[in-house]
Amino acid sequence: MTQYRSTNDEQELALQKEYMKKAASYVADLEVEIGHKPLCCVTTFGCQMNARDSEKLLGILTQIGYEPTDHEEEADFVIYNTCTVRDNANQRVYGRLGFLNSLKRKKPHLKIALCGCMMQESSVIEKIKKSYRFVDLIFGTHNIFKFAELLVTMFENHEMIIDIWQETEQIVEDLPVNRKYPYKSGINIMFGCNNFCSYCIVPYVRGRERSREPKDIIKEIERLVADGVVEVMLLGQNVNSYGKNLANPITFAQLLKEVEQIEGLKRIRFMTSHPKDLSEELIEVMKHSDKICRHLHLPVQAGSDRILQAMNRRYTKEQYLALVDKIKTAMPDIAITTDIIVGFPGETLEDVEETIDVVRKVQYDNAFTFIYSKRTGTPAASMENQVPEEVVKEGFDKLLKVVQDTARDRAARLQGQVMEALVEEVNEQDESLMTGRLSNNMLVHFPADRSMIGQLIKVSLDTCHGFYYTGHVVG
Ligand code: SAH
Ligand code: SF4
Ligand code: F3S
Repeated sequence: MTQYRSTNDEQELALQKEYMKKAASYVADLEVEIGHKPLCCVTTFGCQMNARDSEKLLGILTQIGYEPTDHEEEADFVIYNTCTVRDNANQRVYGRLGFLNSLKRKKPHLKIALCGCMMQESSVIEKIKKSYRFVDLIFGTHNIFKFAELLVTMFENHEMIIDIWQETEQIVEDLPVNRKYPYKSGINIMFGCNNFCSYCIVPYVRGRERSREPKDIIKEIERLVADGVVEVMLLGQNVNSYGKNLANPITFAQLLKEVEQIEGLKRIRFMTSHPKDLSEELIEVMKHSDKICRHLHLPVQAGSDRILQAMNRRYTKEQYLALVDKIKTAMPDIAITTDIIVGFPGETLEDVEETIDVVRKVQYDNAFTFIYSKRTGTPAASMENQVPEEVVKEGFDKLLKVVQDTARDRAARLQGQVMEALVEEVNEQDESLMTGRLSNNMLVHFPADRSMIGQLIKVSLDTCHGFYYTGHVVG
């Protein structure tokens, strides 16, 4: 396995550009061989970080001559950008690999690559080496910047190429990116996580927290705006600790203020906020901002202090509720969403009642509820008191009902109001409708023309359908 290379980031960029040229010549040869422009399909599992990484992969693939497709079965190169946060994400990948094997038998020139968080686990690599020999290329989360180089290695070799790094300090700027949406974009502001919540595998597969320089972030957003982007989503596992380890430290709130100054940028979102690090300064900046959306994703995970402590979340139920109060007092119109885990080791139905109490008190606009998944290598995996499935199920169903009722009540309150929406896409079910996103992250469907995609318009939220609205354009 290759290890860390001591080039600086600019040298690395130049090197990767050379590899892109070389890879392009191999793709050109392939085009001659198969008689059409080779197609590539990148399938993303997991979170927004992975979605952004996939845009980077596609950036390089299109640069070297591939054409993107959403249909795996017609592709000449298939890449799975994997997630391992819960076991079901892993199982989906293994399931689909079986299908890729049959595809490759019919189309021997088909190349298959696996990357992302799952590949950072040695047990996964062992399993693929043993049972999925047809995979051509495997790499991880830390060396995605050398994708062009890995492609060249893949084209020049016929055995499985595996390159996984345990860590990296490197952040290579300015590699090509192929955005999924012309009008909005995710931006990594930091990588990795230092929190080590006891159930979570992310710190092990994404490494230690590293922030990008503010000037690089601003430069990237300015370029995106010049290219038509009106909404950005600043991405990090814990954006509230952004900038602490930079040579010239800066807070997340200060970064937001700088981003706000960018002319032409209309909306700013961010994910995810860890409650323990959310500052008064951030609340103030949000409150006075015209561009920061009225939405805060504030994962609570659990409501019982005992469980929160075992999870290593470093706040109590009372502290969390006090924080929410402060936020709602400053911004009464804010939408708050959350993540909740049910079935953490030792969690009883009484503990789940505490979580339900938090949901009732906070009145979340939406909550993602997960059943605890045991992740090998995390502290929680070796805890003895794993919860029986029936108990988890009972708590989960009870919680889900309260979550859904609360979210429905919250949504109903906005019925009849006129709000600004960013027109995002043609409605999937009905082509005469467009789908727009409100500042609070809810969706509204309304009759309009597709030429309005990317524009901010005023929409009347005529009817609430629980988790979305139908309405009409005003004025
Ligand atoms: N950095 C973000 C979360 C990233 S993972 C944060 O701290 O909020 C997204 C969500 O997956 C988490 O908020 C958590 O609710 C859930 N999750 C993480 N590990 C899990 C596990 N082992 N089992 C079930 N859900 C998990
Ligand atoms: Fe996982 Fe906790 Fe880090 Fe979020 S903050 S990625 S839940 S360890
Ligand atoms: Fe999954 Fe990795 Fe994101 S484990 S949730 S894709 S950081």
